[in-house]
This record gives sequence, structure tokens and C-alpha cells, in this order.
Amino acid sequence: MVWVTVELTLSNTIGNPIERVKNMEKAQKSSILIVDDNPMNLKVLFEVLDRAGFKVSVAKSGESAIRRLENTLPDVILLDVMMPPGIDEFETCRRMKEDVKTKEIPVIFMTALADVKNKVKGLEIGAVDYITKPFQNEEVLARISTHLQLRKAQVQLVHSEKMSSLGQLVAGVAHEINNPVNFIHGNLFHARQYTQQLLDLLELLYANQSNYMAPEIQDMIEEIDINFIIKDLQKLFNSMQIGTKRIREIVQSLRKFSRLDEAELKAVDLQEGLDSTLMLLESRLQVMPDRAAIQVVKEYGKLPLVECYAGELNQVFMNLLANAIDALANIPSPQIIIRTLLIKDERVQISIADNGPGISESVQKQIFDPFFTTKPVGSGTGLGLSTSYQIVVGRHGGKLSCISAPGKGAEFFIEIPVRLW
Ligand SMILES: Nc1ncnc2c1ncn2[C@@H]1O[C@H](COP(=O)(O)OP(=O)(O)O)[C@@H](O)[C@H]1O
Ligand SMILES: [Mg+2]
Repeated sequence: MVWVTVELTLSNTIGNPIERVKNMEKAQKSSILIVDDNPMNLKVLFEVLDRAGFKVSVAKSGESAIRRLENTLPDVILLDVMMPPGIDEFETCRRMKEDVKTKEIPVIFMTALADVKNKVKGLEIGAVDYITKPFQNEEVLARISTHLQLRKAQVQLVHSEKMSSLGQLVAGVAHEINNPVNFIHGNLFHARQYTQQLLDLLELLYANQSNYMAPEIQDMIEEIDINFIIKDLQKLFNSMQIGTKRIREIVQSLRKFSRLDEAELKAVDLQEGLDSTLMLLESRLQVMPDRAAIQVVKEYGKLPLVECYAGELNQVFMNLLANAIDALANIPSPQIIIRTLLIKDERVQISIADNGPGISESVQKQIFDPFFTTKPVGSGTGLGLSTSYQIVVGRHGGKLSCISAPGKGAEFFIEIPVRLW
């Protein structure tokens, strides 16, 4: 279940770097942090990168760069020689590479042409590349775009690896549980029937015997409280049947969710995918200490079967629904509305709306960036939406967008063609 088409066309780096950078930037604005204490250098670089369409920020010392990284993570860092006082460029890089949050961000050193010793030192500490001064604009852009592409490819590979092994694990577990649970479910019916028959027989025996009852039988009847057993057995069987029914439904959902038992590209009922994803998230929808149970409203239109990578789209539903659930913490009457719609017989639109706190305009600009998260370290990975974007746009030629405003909730729209080719 590998969903990534890694666009790692290294040979392209030989082409026109300015055009290539512009094209890349059209798709998604990448951000670059320049760390330099020389105002002249800063100005030149800022202009070149800004013109190429990057989102550029600057830090005038190593310390302020590190502080800045606590709030926003750029896609690439350009690091120049820094004069005392304060930490130098090597120490700055070392600290960036020590922090789990920043250690994967490519750092490019800026060094004087002849400075071989420092170039090597920078690379040893963890820089990925260096740019020599005085700058050649084209070289700067070419190197930056190469590292942006490498970084994107790396992120996608790591994630696709995770996704495919998770999918396999899920499908494997579901498969293993499927047989035993069906076995128990099927036998429960007979166990109930046999028990009832035995009880009937007992009753008959009881009715047909003379007034005399052996004292051992009398004792046992009292000891085991036969009337209680008869009443409780019914309840017991009922709850066991409900339990196995629920396990069977979950196993079904897991199988539908991972879709590993099917060919990759297939015409499927997307609403079924939405429902099985909801089923898997059910425990997260229930009452929590900080809020009431989430009300899920389904406004499903009539959709045709849609040709798609179903397991991957279910992953998208999962990511969007999980984000909506996260957003509903502490919300008084939490609600999620799922709508499906057929547009001109050609495209389907699925939208997932929540009445959570909404997303500010500045955050909205970054939500599809890999690793962007506003959640505390350890709870958010910042990969949900970037992965979803890859799946919807990259794999299905669709659109993924968001409409939101602070205090107005958020609504995510997935639009994909009914047929892929
Ligand atoms: N429904 C939503 N309501 C509010 N904010 C959202 C919603 N969905 C996504 N976001 C914002 O987008 C960010 C990125 O989401 P995502 O890529 O799934 O990563 P993660 O959930 O790990 O943070 C979230 O941290 C959050 O700030
Ligand atoms: Mg998420």
C-alpha cells in the first residue's frame, strides 16, 4: 500500500533553477530562515529568495534563530558565519541538530570560497550543504530547491513506510481475529439453545417427580440459587452476543479500512469507507471529562461507486475526523457534520465540518505543510493533513481545501473525480 509517487527528479536540478523554483513554489510556498549577523548579506539573500517566491524570515544571531524555531519551523535554514558575542554558526547548528523538533530541517552553511576547513566542520556537525560567498543567485536557488525536494521525498518515504506497515498490521490483526470471533459468535447461538433445552428438561424432571426430594438435591438447589441462574443466563447470553457482534463489526471495519484484501484501484462506496472509519473512531466520539458525546450528523447524497485507492482515502477520512475530534475538546455541544455530494456526475465532494474553535488565517496558510502542528509535542505529528493532501491531490488528482474562521468551526472539503482515468 505505498501511496507516494516520489517526485525526485534530480536530473532536473541541471535545468533552469529559477523556473524550477518558481514552479515548486507555486504548488506550496516553502519557508526559509536566514541566520546572519551581516545586514548586507541578509539584504541580498532576502531579495533573491523573496523574488523566487519563498517565505523568508531572518534571525540576526544564533540565539534568536533558536528562539524563533520554538514557534515556527522553516523548510530550510541558511546559516552564515557569526561574529562574537553570542554563539557561532557551528554551535547554532549543533543545537538545532540536538533538538528532535528541528533536527530534520536541512541546514545549509554559507562560507567563503577558500574556507575548506570550516566547510568540512559544518558538514560533520550535520549541515547538508554549503553555499560559497560571494553568492551566485542561481546556485543559491538550485541548492535550496534540491534540498527542499530531498526533504519532501524523505518525509513522504518515511510516512508511506509507516502507513503501509500500519495498514498491513491492521489487516493482519483483523484477519487473525476474524475466524475465532465468528466461531464464538456462531456457537453462542447453539450454546444458548442447548442450555435452554437442558433447563427445560430440568423443569420437566422437577415437575414429574413425587413430593419427595433427595436432601442432596434440595441442598444443591439452594446453594446454587437455581432461579437466579435461570434469570441471569439470559442476560449473560445477551451481552455475550452483543459483545461478539461488536467485535465482528470492528473487524469488518478494520478490513474495509485497510482494504488490503482488494486490488489497489477499485470502484468503491465511499460512504461505506466513511462509516467504517467512524466505527473505528467510536470510542473517541463518546462522552469525555471535558465535553459531551460528539453528535455526528450524516448528510449523505447519492454517490456512484468511485474509482480510487480506497484504503488511502479512508486514511484521509481518518485524519480529518481525528482532527475534528481533537478540535472539539472543551466545546459545549460538539458536533461533526459529514456531507457527500455528486457534482455534475463527474466529481464527488466529501466535507467534514466541526463546530470547534476554527483556524485563524495565519495558521490556515500552514496546515498542509509537513510537520506543522499546533498540538503539544507528543500528541500531534503535523503529518495528517500533508499526507491527506498528497493522497487527495497527488494520487487522485483531486482537491483538498479548508474553510474556517476563528470561532466559526472548520470545514474540510475533499473533491475527487469519479473515474481516475
Ligand atoms: N478541524 C480542525 N480545527 C482546528 N484546527 C485544525 C483542524 N484540523 C487541523 N487543524 C490544524 O491543523 C494542524 C495540522 O493538522 P495535522 O496535519 O492533522 O497535524 P496534527 O493533527 O498532528 O497537528 C493542527 O495542529 C491544527 O492546528
Ligand atoms: Mg491530525
